[in-house]
Amino acid sequence: MTPFLAVDELKKHYPKAGRERPVLDGISFYAEKGEFLAFRGPSGSGKTTLLRLISGIEQASSGFIRIGSSFLHALDDNQRAQFRQRHIGFAFQLFDLLDDLTVAENVALPLILAGQGRKSALKEAEGMLERFAILNLARAMPETLSGGEMQRVSLGRALIHKPDLLLADEPTGSLDTFDAEQALNLLAETREGTGLTILLVTHSARAAAYADRVLTLKEGRLVYNKAGALYA
Ligand SMILES: Nc1ncnc2c1ncn2[C@@H]1O[C@H](COP(=O)(O)OP(=O)(O)OP(=O)(O)O)[C@@H](O)[C@H]1O
Ligand SMILES: [Mg+2]
Repeated sequence: MTPFLAVDELKKHYPKAGRERPVLDGISFYAEKGEFLAFRGPSGSGKTTLLRLISGIEQASSGFIRIGSSFLHALDDNQRAQFRQRHIGFAFQLFDLLDDLTVAENVALPLILAGQGRKSALKEAEGMLERFAILNLARAMPETLSGGEMQRVSLGRALIHKPDLLLADEPTGSLDTFDAEQALNLLAETREGTGLTILLVTHSARAAAYADRVLTLKEGRLVYNKAGALYA
């Protein structure tokens, strides 16, 4: 079977940045449906850039990305935005919750933006909050939450539309060990229940231990180990 995600010879160059080497310099890997890959590597090695390209927010200079049966470069801007809205979820280190909306409204937002009625969207959001053990916070405002709670809300919002692919950029980077493990356990449970494919960027060995495979980036390339294998 062809893998769910294929990335082939991906390059990203910022011509105006005055750099000689591309930020991404020929990245190739794949992920099966339901696989959990972690990406590690020093600051500036290109991890966030890689996720931005896979999300379709930014375009590659060359190479290709296929998600399911869609080649991102073959989609126009509108189609890419629509693809992202349907198939991809995002989670970040800073949770990016909207201050003026309640917890439940934050989680429901992607559904409402996609055209779903407010009432049914809020009901689905509450179901998600219940699964994440924070239904009691449904009507709270984000600023009153702890960091761990905020990240659970943020993960709920990333997953409410049942994406096929979750792109997570250091989602546990600002959490303590306990909260980080709780967030990672939620991801692991979601994956088991849904076949979600996860790409996680992390500086933490503990977080990477949740992944099936760990890939390391260095100066825009994937690092191969002594045996010539891509995966740690
Ligand atoms: N829009 C841009 N224009 C020019 N250079 C950029 C742009 N975005 C990123 N870069 C450069 O690309 C390189 C990789 O950045 P990236 O954010 O992908 O690194 P990272 O691995 O995520 O680092 P960190 O661990 O610090 O988050 C950096 O040298 C950065 O300065
Ligand atoms: Mg980064």
